[in-house]
Amino acid sequence: MDYRRLGKSGLKVSEFSFGSWVTFGKQVDGGDAKTLMSAAYDAGVNFFDNAEGYEAGNSETLMGEALAALKWSRDSYIVSSKVFWGGTKPTQRGLSAKHVTEACHAALRRLQVDHLDLYFCHRPDIDTPIEETVRAMHNLITQGKILYWGTSEWSGQQITEAHLAARTHGLTPPTMEQPQYNLFERHKVEADYLPIYDTFGLGTTIWSPLASGLLTGKYNDGIPSDSRVNLPGYEWLRDQVQSEGGKARLVKVKALAKLAAEAAMPVHHLALLWCLQNPHVSTVILGASRKSQLKDNLSALDAKSKMTPDLMAAIEAIVQTKPDLPQRF
Ligand SMILES: NC(=O)c1ccc[n+]([C@@H]2O[C@H](COP(=O)([O-])OP(=O)(O)OC[C@H]3O[C@@H](n4cnc5c(N)ncnc54)[C@H](OP(=O)(O)O)[C@@H]3O)[C@@H](O)[C@H]2O)c1
Repeated sequence: MDYRRLGKSGLKVSEFSFGSWVTFGKQVDGGDAKTLMSAAYDAGVNFFDNAEGYEAGNSETLMGEALAALKWSRDSYIVSSKVFWGGTKPTQRGLSAKHVTEACHAALRRLQVDHLDLYFCHRPDIDTPIEETVRAMHNLITQGKILYWGTSEWSGQQITEAHLAARTHGLTPPTMEQPQYNLFERHKVEADYLPIYDTFGLGTTIWSPLASGLLTGKYNDGIPSDSRVNLPGYEWLRDQVQSEGGKARLVKVKALAKLAAEAAMPVHHLALLWCLQNPHVSTVILGASRKSQLKDNLSALDAKSKMTPDLMAAIEAIVQTKPDLPQRF
């Protein structure tokens, strides 16, 4: 496992990390959560991603129980939470100082840790002044309850506004962003944030590198019954897979699989390693509902040297998803 700096921070995060969305508390119980985290840690993964909104906090409870049972040295791993979707009442959602603070305390209790290493604003909140959120994050940092704060699915403009608010008021700016990034979703990481990587030293912890499994080829011939798109509550994901856009993506996945076979690797290894080719990616967050998937995905790292410029160009020719870049003169 290699490690990358999280943006301009001094924090070294493993190139592959592990997250619990959909899986912990839905497909995976406490015992399996511990098994999965153990397999990841033993392979060198040092970052475990979570959120208050995952299974209404139950995902964090299972991760906390696993951390307590595994007894790893607290200075050997990074754990995150995200704030935004805490509950149904108006004070239980969004990025007000009240909810940012209370959600942090609740995550600390569920995860059974004294501090969160990373704490993300899970989405932008247009009802809260940016200065209020930045100040709440800054206060949690000065209290030692979080070490780095960041955003998820914010625009480059919104991240810039957070930096300006921090600079104006002498507060701590965000360190990292958690955007979706895979062969089909590229705009934010490759175009929108381009002007701010250097300006602010932004790090990224990217999600859904396999587009929820689509890039494994598992949906090429229909929907397997034991996959996440068949779970109650994830009908929206099944609709995406079955949409015209989803079908067009599957055509490309089949072409990518042929290309990957020529390079003697499965298509999901090619898709994961493609994410790592982007130097603005600090870590690729893997998802897995079973240990065999996780071990398989981690083993992609053995094929890193196969990602030649020729292979990258051939991938581009198939997917044709490169976004228009900001104009340079
Ligand atoms: N910030 C955000 O808004 C946000 C949003 C989404 C995710 N995330 C984070 O990113 C993490 C990863 O996202 P993700 O789970 O969507 O990642 P992903 O890699 O795109 O999808 C993971 C899913 O694909 C299937 N899969 C993975 N490897 C496989 C393999 N080798 N063979 C067959 N199927 C395989 C499994 O689903 P099946 O159970 O169907 O087999 C697995 O749960 C999440 O856990 C979370 O921490 C963040």
